[in-house]
Amino acid sequence: MADIRRLIDQLEEQRILSREEFLQILSDLTEEDRNYLRERARAVANKHFGNHIYTRGLIEFTNYCKNDCYYCGIRRSNREVTRYRLTNEQILSCCKEGHELGFRTFVLQGGEDGSYSDEDIVAIITLIKTNFPDCALTLSIGEKSYASYLKYYEAGADRYLLRHETANEEHYSKLHPENLKLQNRKQCLLDLKTIGYQVGAGFMVGSPYQTKENIVEDLLFLKELSPEMIGIGPFLPHHETPFAAEQKGSMEMTLILISIIRLMIPNALIPATTALGTIHPKGREEGILSGANVVMPNLSPTSVRKNYELYDNKICTGDEAAECRFCLDGRMKKIGYELTIDRGDYKEDKIDV
Ligand code: 5AD
Ligand code: FES
Repeated sequence: MADIRRLIDQLEEQRILSREEFLQILSDLTEEDRNYLRERARAVANKHFGNHIYTRGLIEFTNYCKNDCYYCGIRRSNREVTRYRLTNEQILSCCKEGHELGFRTFVLQGGEDGSYSDEDIVAIITLIKTNFPDCALTLSIGEKSYASYLKYYEAGADRYLLRHETANEEHYSKLHPENLKLQNRKQCLLDLKTIGYQVGAGFMVGSPYQTKENIVEDLLFLKELSPEMIGIGPFLPHHETPFAAEQKGSMEMTLILISIIRLMIPNALIPATTALGTIHPKGREEGILSGANVVMPNLSPTSVRKNYELYDNKICTGDEAAECRFCLDGRMKKIGYELTIDRGDYKEDKIDV
């Protein structure tokens, strides 16, 4: 037990552990160790961000997707989904509502929808950035070429979310069809970094076939990439996917990993994800108390929300943007935190090792 504490201290000081040490932490944590890990992670988050929680307004603008990932509810093969695309006017009105509610970051997320040309995406970026020049814009629209990423960046996109999903080839191939390659996904992340985006990576906790060794690989990959944002959440099955009967991930393991990642990359932007809020009614609060510092409420029109179910029972599908905003306000206050009106950019770490 004392051993594990020493490893946690070492992680905080050196911001990295060896493969074996990470494995030991993931395998042998007692309840007491877990509380200690969480305390240290929260202390580090507080040192960097105080009690401020950044918010990002999520706009799910299309649920068409050409991919067929085995875990995802909006995969191409799911014929039960009502597909939709928001018009540019609808997107803009989500932003307008969000701006009034105090959001200064919009996340434009969608399936990999082949019907949008680069010019279409650039037009949407331009529209948002000219109407809301004080806001940051994050894209989350999947794997694209370097040239496309560059065009979006030049049009004004600031950040890009692309979870790597798993850093292990073999595991990747068990979650995705043959045509999707980990190599390509990693290349996309490198391209995004090279171009100058603030980049978000991440993975699902407890996805089918995931081993502890895989998770350690994820941690080592994240350390090497050092993305500005890291999104992790529990895997949750969706009834219309090949993984319908698979076990869900665990909230406890997700919280442990949030804390480990906080100690490993102290200034990272780490959301308490919707999946975490879905697996447990207090999941997002627990995420914040374990070292997360971002929440991403939904700004999509309520009329389409049900159609963007990546997994079963996703929360907030019936709630207006304002309801979520105020709900989160209250939830954060209750645990001693405050939502801030700030773009919430990544800040270089001034406290050096
Ligand atoms: N359970 C949990 N998370 C999921 N995602 C997709 N499907 C699921 C699921 N069934 C996550 C993926 C993706 C992000 C947008 O949502 O990690 O990158
Ligand atoms: Fe959406 Fe609570 S955050 S209703």
